[in-house]
Amino acid sequence: MIPRLKRLFHAGLQYMNTKYISDEYIKWLTRANAGMLNSGNIYSMSLAIENLPSASPVLEIGSLCGLSINVISYLLSSRGKTNRIISCDKWLFEGAEKGGNLGSSQISHAKYREFVKAAFVRNVEFFSPDNKPYTIESTSDEFFILWEKGETTHDIFGRNITLGGKISFCYIDGNHTYEFAKRDFENVDRYIEPGGYVLFDDSSDMDYFGLTRLMKEIERNRNYKLVMKNPNYLFRKIINLRHT
Ligand SMILES: C[S@@+](CC[C@H](N)C(=O)[O-])C[C@H]1O[C@@H](n2cnc3c(N)ncnc32)[C@H](O)[C@@H]1O
Repeated sequence: MIPRLKRLFHAGLQYMNTKYISDEYIKWLTRANAGMLNSGNIYSMSLAIENLPSASPVLEIGSLCGLSINVISYLLSSRGKTNRIISCDKWLFEGAEKGGNLGSSQISHAKYREFVKAAFVRNVEFFSPDNKPYTIESTSDEFFILWEKGETTHDIFGRNITLGGKISFCYIDGNHTYEFAKRDFENVDRYIEPGGYVLFDDSSDMDYFGLTRLMKEIERNRNYKLVMKNPNYLFRKIINLRHT
């Protein structure tokens, strides 16, 4: 009981210390664009974007209805950055594998998936017309295979893109289990530049998704520095890499 209370107390403190940005556009965007985005992440994204090491692409794993990617797109353009945004999602939701309908409704999981993907397209086309992400319909594992091969592929808007090369910032918000998030990190680590950032959604010390173990591992990785817990973990790859 006591350790649990202690943990809750510390988590409460972390939430009280969370930093936010106040921005009129983001207020309107978050009202209209469905999504799952912790407001503290917006502050962390802004910090990372203002300090990007280069014009290499920004990557997002897990886009749902496009809320976080529209925030990233806005932060980039409002901070005068021209980095390309690339994302991957296959819109395959945990718990939907068994098929059938959503509860006792008449809506099938297949139709729901179509709806969410169409919402992503509509939201991105409306909110990010000038900096539209190149969104690849794939899982992150499939995506990194293409990235490694430097494959030319097409995004969901029908545009060709050649993948590969360095990444300046990655927002990891796909499958939140330890195994998947760790593999996402290992893949990102191969391409993220020194001085580049990695932000993990749902990684705060009080989250129940199980990223705590991974966050502790990355804290011990000598090539990364913890920038902040707001309350999710934002890491920066250090500039003079050390051998771990
Ligand atoms: C929590 S939602 C993302 C929320 C989104 N970033 C937002 O701002 O609202 C998680 C998303 O990750 C996607 N996803 C799940 N597993 C994935 C994987 N292995 N690779 C890529 N995307 C994945 C799901 O389809 C879902 O759209």
